[in-house]
Amino acid sequence: MKLRGKFNSMLLVVFGLALGASGYMSHRQLNDNARAEVLSNASVLMETILSARTWAVNEVGPNLRETGEDEEMLMMGVPAYAADKIMEAVYKRYPDYGYREAALNPTNLKHRAADWEAKIINSFRSDPAKTEEWGIRQTVKGPVLYLAHPIQIKQSGCLGCHTTPEKSPPQIVAKYGAENGYGWKLKEIVGAQIVTVPLSVPVDNANRMFITFMTTITGVFVLVFVLINIMLNSLIISRVSVMANIADEISKGNFEMGEFNEQGSDEVAQLSVAFNRMRRSLVKAMELFSGHGT
Ligand code: HEC
Repeated sequence: MKLRGKFNSMLLVVFGLALGASGYMSHRQLNDNARAEVLSNASVLMETILSARTWAVNEVGPNLRETGEDEEMLMMGVPAYAADKIMEAVYKRYPDYGYREAALNPTNLKHRAADWEAKIINSFRSDPAKTEEWGIRQTVKGPVLYLAHPIQIKQSGCLGCHTTPEKSPPQIVAKYGAENGYGWKLKEIVGAQIVTVPLSVPVDNANRMFITFMTTITGVFVLVFVLINIMLNSLIISRVSVMANIADEISKGNFEMGEFNEQGSDEVAQLSVAFNRMRRSLVKAMELFSGHGT
């Protein structure tokens, strides 16, 4: 194999390995980052809604029950209602975000847990130490990340509306009926808050960054490859080929060809200087030799 072949195959192997490794690492890193970013958005939204719920049940509700009998007013103290109101505003700006309070035995039937939600709620119920679950789901609108927190009845205040219809404000029973959303117990995990955030935009961004990154380093590799080849050719291969030709001719007794005309101080130039000297010695030796002969 010639020098150029050796160099180029070595370069190609190194470049291939480097491209593969950096492609794999950066793809993973970018996707992890995208997911982490979405997860942190979901957490912020979750905390915001949680604060609104706590505020409704701890501060608004108790005050309302002393003063108001009006159904509209009473709803202000319902944590799920506060969450709904907050989300109405959020949806205007982020229509693809989602929030649900899914329950196994809901007051409002639209909150009944779907199969995948029920699975999450049951996993919280069977492991009370678990405070969070997240994952990725495929939907018709593309992949979404969901973050779920258990809803546990921690305050006895909650039971004011979720124990029996008799204990609940009559306005609530009139609105939601006497069938669902009762019989909840203190400490029971009755449902889950589930925030969903679309993944397609951050994942698309990550993919676009990945392509830009890979194109850039491939470009750099191609440039390095071309430059190394040009240098290899002009600094070594073409000069050494000339020398090899001349040396070949001399070895056949043909001294017609001129001396090497190598400038500079690199190793090839040194070699040519030495070669020229050797050639002159050889010519002299030949002259001496033929002089003796006659
Ligand atoms: C003032 C009465 C009231 C109180 C107090 C109350 N809730 Fe509710 N809760 C409701 C009503 C009414 C709904 C249905 C709201 C809707 O239509 O979205 C509801 C809905 C929910 C839901 C959604 C699932 C479902 O049943 O529709 C959960 C979960 C929930 N409540 C948990 C709690 C917890 C936990 C507390 C205590 C922190 C609490 N509630 C306190 C009245 C109340």
